Amino acid sequence: MAPRRPRDNGSGAMRAVAGRRHGAGQLVAGALRRAEILISDGEPKGDFPVGQEGERLSATAEKLSIYERIGGEKAVDRLVQAFYDHMDALPQAAEVREMHGPELTEIRKVFRNYLTEWTGGPALYSPVKGHPRLRQRHLPFAIDDARRDAWMACMIRALDDTLGDTPARRELEGNISKLADWMRNRA
Ligand code: HEM
Repeated sequence: MAPRRPRDNGSGAMRAVAGRRHGAGQLVAGALRRAEILISDGEPKGDFPVGQEGERLSATAEKLSIYERIGGEKAVDRLVQAFYDHMDALPQAAEVREMHGPELTEIRKVFRNYLTEWTGGPALYSPVKGHPRLRQRHLPFAIDDARRDAWMACMIRALDDTLGDTPARRELEGNISKLADWMRNRA
């Protein structure tokens, strides 16, 4: 029987292309290292890789990441720009917009880097910022249901504008929505 290997639990990060470039052993080790760095505080994951015992590597190696399925760099850029444009304009998001300070240039970049990595694209966030610890980073900001809903309203509009209605968009929206729930820190 073939030895059991840690697997990509559907994250898409163990892609065939990466497998060819680095070899399976290195790939698994790399994915496990990233998983350790990126999700160890219990944060709901997007496409960040998670090593687990189970399926053979080959069973998941052909899966594409959400990053690839939505259209890669350009798609994430468009999504993030649209998201903050909506945050700037939507009356119901005024409080959330206020929490961000006057200038959105830097957060547009940081959020772009985060979403790129979180959806399974290049690691643009963690080499600069370290472990996301997103919930912890949001603790200084009071986030209740209403603010979560306002934030999500901007995101849903941005997803509508830039990705339309595809399975990848629905999956991404579901993952982001779980993360938005996780960011709440006030009743
Ligand atoms: C649920 C409602 C949310 C609110 C009200 C909120 C609000 C904020 C605020 C005020 C900041 C600081 C911005 C700044 O430094 O100018 C921030 C940072 C950030 N938010 Fe959120 N956020 C929410 C949900 C989310 C979600 C769901 C994600 C991910 C999908 C996310 C990703 C980020 C990232 C990556 C940063 C930058 C963290 C860093 O400095 O490295 N946020 N958020």
